[in-house]
Amino acid sequence: MIVGPASQILGVRIAQELGIETINTETKNFPDGENYLRLNLEDESILQGKEVIIIQSTGPSANSTQNSRLFELLMMIDSVKRIGPEKLIVIVPYLAYARQDKIFRPGECPFARVIARMINSQNIDEFYTVDVHNPQILEEFDCKAINIDSMELLANYIKSLGAEDIVVVSPDKGSIERSKAFARYFGESVPIEYFEKKRDVITGEIKMSGELNLKGKDVVIADDIIATGGTMATAIELSKQSGAKKVYAAATHALMLGQAKYRIMKAGADEIIGTDSIDNEMAKVSLAKTIADYLAYD
Ligand code: R5P
Repeated sequence: MIVGPASQILGVRIAQELGIETINTETKNFPDGENYLRLNLEDESILQGKEVIIIQSTGPSANSTQNSRLFELLMMIDSVKRIGPEKLIVIVPYLAYARQDKIFRPGECPFARVIARMINSQNIDEFYTVDVHNPQILEEFDCKAINIDSMELLANYIKSLGAEDIVVVSPDKGSIERSKAFARYFGESVPIEYFEKKRDVITGEIKMSGELNLKGKDVVIADDIIATGGTMATAIELSKQSGAKKVYAAATHALMLGQAKYRIMKAGADEIIGTDSIDNEMAKVSLAKTIADYLAYD
């Protein structure tokens, strides 16, 4: 397994689950800003005719951008392809640009599809991602392309914290189906409520509304992504105003940009929970076994 710079923890964990070797990478930026990546190996023949897995998340972090992560991914893919594996499997736990999946204003580009086409054009054999914002973009792949669901893992973790009398709250009516599926992991009769969220397509500002009866309840708010934390913080504030006792803020991809941690804690979260799709301190739930199971049995 080639472990990309953005998935060091998850990559090694998956390799350990599968009992396979790992190869690290060496990266830098040239003085003009261009990315550089080489596979950290001296003998390329160790990849020839082998099944090779590449893992690289493409989220932004304090020391990199999503564009750099995508370029590093393409460099890894091309290096492996040049060497000649029998099969190449690519795992991108967090797929950058996935939220640019529609034309919101005239003249825009649904760039999520371009990113998907770009990866697909490398003639890979299988592609895996996790809770991608809009699974329809996987239509751009000619090869097998799987969107892995992390909801059961997140729910199990929240149950282990002792949450009781749970209500699942969707921060957006549009993601109610996802919240319904999520709620089932807490039990058949767990209620699902939602707020109405509207985002200004020009400023990005969100407005959320809704009055729910959450008196004395443990509220779980789940989203695919926490970016600036605005969506989650607003949903938490409204939940608290509606009487919530505890609030668990869960997201598959907790990017935690800027002041996100402060905003969410200040709004009244008891805990912020993410997965190791993103290497940061919110990664309390590991995707390793679930991804390894897909790779082993598919
Ligand atoms: C939006 O549709 C997503 O599902 C998330 O709700 C959104 O990306 C979160 O962004 P932020 O944390 O900046 O509000």
